[in-house]
Amino acid sequence: MKKTGRFLLLGVLFVSLSVILFGCGTKNSGSSTDVGEGKNEGARKLVVGTDATYAPMESMDEKGNIVGIDIDIVKAIAEAAGFEVEFKNIGWEPLFPAVDNSEVDFAVSSITITEDRKKTYDFTNPYFSANQLILVPEDSSIENFADLKDKRVAVQINTTGHIVTKGLLGDTSSKIVAAETMPLAISEMINGNADAAVGDNAVIIDYKANNPKVQLKTIEDASFEKEFYGLMVKKGNKEVVDLLNKGIQIIKDNGKLKEITGFDIE
Ligand code: ARG
Repeated sequence: MKKTGRFLLLGVLFVSLSVILFGCGTKNSGSSTDVGEGKNEGARKLVVGTDATYAPMESMDEKGNIVGIDIDIVKAIAEAAGFEVEFKNIGWEPLFPAVDNSEVDFAVSSITITEDRKKTYDFTNPYFSANQLILVPEDSSIENFADLKDKRVAVQINTTGHIVTKGLLGDTSSKIVAAETMPLAISEMINGNADAAVGDNAVIIDYKANNPKVQLKTIEDASFEKEFYGLMVKKGNKEVVDLLNKGIQIIKDNGKLKEITGFDIE
């Protein structure tokens, strides 16, 4: 009887150990997807769409994993609110229809909450704040945003950088170089096809820091309004918005969000 007890205990220990050691290995991870940490075993899994061309917020590492500040934030939200995540690299423009047609449960992509987007999508509470920044060659005579009036300006298409630039140059201006991704927009400026690039500060600063051989300078402008990033959900999907907001609140309260971003958003 005693012996049986001991075997039972050993058995239980062995099973627990296997779960701890191999629990995460049972899920399949496709090449373009990245399965969450597995901290919420057995919990529901939400598919998260992104445009992983936006370092340091969301990008692909050498191994093909989707990584970045936004990704860490979503993983922390998922852990706090008790769900699992699977990331899909969808691209910027296709991301919006992907949320609409439920190909993904929500999107994380440094998406600024705007009145216009709120007409078509639901957003969580803000989790990050940002502003536009101008990037020009170091020897450029451009000093502020107004100086870009008659210049060629590169932006990522349909971003808030594109919207503010349309505000200065006109909606249909042929001087706006609207690229598919932010790195491509910056390349247009470096190649001389545009005089400046306009985009989110974190991404512009990261690009400049990682390309020290290219002589560039950044320009701030007081006319750029503060922007807030939110997670974007299909219109009317209150359940997912509530779940995400719950997670955001927890990581705001316990300091985890600040630990990831390095600053308080409000
Ligand atoms: N914050 C800007 C916007 O919402 C740019 C976001 C672009 N994000 C990306 N992953 N490409 O329009």
